[in-house]
Amino acid sequence: MKFRILRNKKKSIVIGINKKEYELQANWLYEHSKDKLIRDAYTNQLLIEAAEIPKNLKINQAILNKNCLQICFSNKTTHKYAISYLYNQINGQKNVTEKFLWDNKNSIIPKYDFLKINDKVLYKIMSAVEKYGFCLVKNIPNKRNGLNELMKLIGPVKKTNWGGIADVTSIKKAYDLTMTTRGLENHTDNPYRFPTQGYIFLHCIENAEKGGSNTIADGFKIAEILKKRYRNHYNTLTTFNTFFKYKDDKAHLEYSCKLIELDDNKKIQQIRYNNRTEVIPYASPLEISRYVEARSKFWELIKNPLNNIKIKQKSGDMLILDNYRVLHGRSEYTEINNRRYFRQGYMDRDIFLSKLKTIN
Ligand SMILES: [Fe+2]
Repeated sequence: MKFRILRNKKKSIVIGINKKEYELQANWLYEHSKDKLIRDAYTNQLLIEAAEIPKNLKINQAILNKNCLQICFSNKTTHKYAISYLYNQINGQKNVTEKFLWDNKNSIIPKYDFLKINDKVLYKIMSAVEKYGFCLVKNIPNKRNGLNELMKLIGPVKKTNWGGIADVTSIKKAYDLTMTTRGLENHTDNPYRFPTQGYIFLHCIENAEKGGSNTIADGFKIAEILKKRYRNHYNTLTTFNTFFKYKDDKAHLEYSCKLIELDDNKKIQQIRYNNRTEVIPYASPLEISRYVEARSKFWELIKNPLNNIKIKQKSGDMLILDNYRVLHGRSEYTEINNRRYFRQGYMDRDIFLSKLKTIN
């Protein structure tokens, strides 16, 4: 890495890293100091109140010493900065795993065997979920809380008003259509929650003989198709706030949000689609017309077999799904003795991503 000090403008300095120029403001530098009076050596947390650093702070002198930048500030303190540290701060954290967008033609099903689990295999499983949005893990212990054998290696299960790890089977007084033999259209789970569950762990203890396959679709890929071919619809779905609601005797959950959520850099961050719980909010006829048209096109792409793959889970199979990216559905099933029995657990996004970073 070639590093140079180009100019000292007192309130900032201009540096060159390789062939690019960057301007570093005096307060920014001061706040990033690793001086033992400023940051705790072990936690790296600030010991001073950043908001009280003098606003008129100036850089009296900047010296380059091997891989270290030394700054003397106008408050008569001197601080040292590793060049590699400054470079990482300027360029931001790189994504842990590149995403591979897929459809029916180029998809693969990443498969791993729980019997071979160790840190390396766990890292591969979690990286596959980040890359493809899903992963299939075989040979999960075929018992009621078998899925926890893998989940506990990653982090705590997210609890909701339904509890932690829950049954997915057909029951008489179903509180949700998931708990029936009905087919389920592609959807993401629980957009009426904030934050929405980051990941779904779906363990098959026993599947139905007829039907009961899972369909999954890559929401990021579908959103990219929409952006490319139907830009107006894409603009509508990334700006119109719709509304999702779930209500029973003990819970009343609701959230206002977009079907395609972008981050500050206009990058797709999250997909939501859940026909069963959407309650379209009041808006002008023009806005509603635009929204329903855009949503129809989005749905057309979501259900298109070209964008879907089918997986029929066998006993011991667990699907891990990125609920911010992959839509999932289920075909209708028929059975005689209510045999189909799945267990499902959720995990928060920060827990999963934190484990992925620490295990790497
Ligand atoms: Fe679901």
